[in-house]
Amino acid sequence: ATTLLACTALLAGMASAQSNELLNDAKDMFKPIPSVVPAVKDNAVTGEKVELGKMLFFDPRLSSSGLISCNTCHNLGMGGDDNLETSIGHGWQKGPRNAPTVFNAVFNAAQFWDGRAEDLKAQAKGPVQAGVEMASTPARVEATLASLPDYVERFGKAFPGEEKPVNFDNMAKAIEAFEATLITPASRFDQFLEGNTKVLTTMEQEGLKLFMDKGCASCHGGVNLGGEGYYAFGVVEKPGADILPAGDKGRFAVTQTADEEYVFRAGPLRNIELTAPYFHSGKVWDLEQAVAIMGTSQLGEKLADNEIKAITAFLKTLTGEQPKVIYPILPVETATTPKPEA
Ligand code: HEM
Ligand code: HEM
Repeated sequence: ATTLLACTALLAGMASAQSNELLNDAKDMFKPIPSVVPAVKDNAVTGEKVELGKMLFFDPRLSSSGLISCNTCHNLGMGGDDNLETSIGHGWQKGPRNAPTVFNAVFNAAQFWDGRAEDLKAQAKGPVQAGVEMASTPARVEATLASLPDYVERFGKAFPGEEKPVNFDNMAKAIEAFEATLITPASRFDQFLEGNTKVLTTMEQEGLKLFMDKGCASCHGGVNLGGEGYYAFGVVEKPGADILPAGDKGRFAVTQTADEEYVFRAGPLRNIELTAPYFHSGKVWDLEQAVAIMGTSQLGEKLADNEIKAITAFLKTLTGEQPKVIYPILPVETATTPKPEA
């Protein structure tokens, strides 16, 4: 019995030595989500801005129909996206791409699948004006906001000392400040990174090891396990048109360089179990299938079933604490508020 005990203790010791080695390797590649709201470039995140930004995020009057808000496609109760293949916007039009989550977007090096927006304040001006999304104009948004005394007061407080605080740029800045609060700390993976190796099961640790050893982490590293660099979708083998439709050439549209055809941002993988369907095309609903596709397209390797299962189990440890958001009460329209337009 003593020998058995000694053996068990020895095995446990070996297992924890392995876990510690895994932890050290992981610390070189990834960073935990901070528990405090990160600072944002050129935009101090104040309480007044965050509250205003939250109201704007939920306010459908930023769209010309009066029906579509940021939250329509980035539903904060559903992982920060719409769980549709590609988004549906103004006039029930189907957009060209899958909506990424807004959660932890503040940690991405640039925004959109092709990185065409430098940061969240640049990004927020896009959907409001996009014909297939909210189909509005800066002038219409400014007229709407200026017609609502509660907003006028809040813009004044959020942007003190400015001559004309109610404007389109400040709308974007307030939304960016709110989005900086949409972080999801304390996932089991974060707890692991902070030193609690027991929090991941053996299978999840195997998945993490495979994720690093096979080379996934070289494109999906950092705080968001992605969202940093651009790579051909199909570095080794281009997926078929059912998954990679020919029409969307990714970064080619941004840089006009031929070797950037079908280059996309490595998707950030935080909360990935909440944000199916996958890829910019939204063509894949099953996370295991997405992992298998990455194996062949990016690594040139047909991953074994047990490897796919372990990696997927690891990816599910990336689900963090979802932000607690109190639904804002929005100012009621006045006689001068622009009316909804079809
Ligand atoms: C992308 C925020 C409205 C659909 C994004 C991203 C952010 C964001 C931060 C980039 C995330 C990333 O790259 O990881 C917002 C805000 C909105 C808004 C603040 C309101 C002002 C909408 C609406 C729709 C929508 C109404 C659907 C009709 C999408 C899609 C993308 C996207 C499809 C990906 C587009 C691409 O990569 O080309 N949004 N969004 N968004 N959003 Fe929104
Ligand atoms: C997208 C996982 C290896 C670059 C994705 C997505 C997952 C994933 C789940 C979908 C994200 C989403 O839809 O939100 C993995 C795993 C890998 C791996 C498990 C290892 C087996 C790589 C490598 C690269 C890479 C090595 C770079 C050479 C990309 C790119 C996308 C992506 C560019 C976006 C594709 C698109 O939709 O256009 N990855 N990945 N991945 N990954 Fe990987």
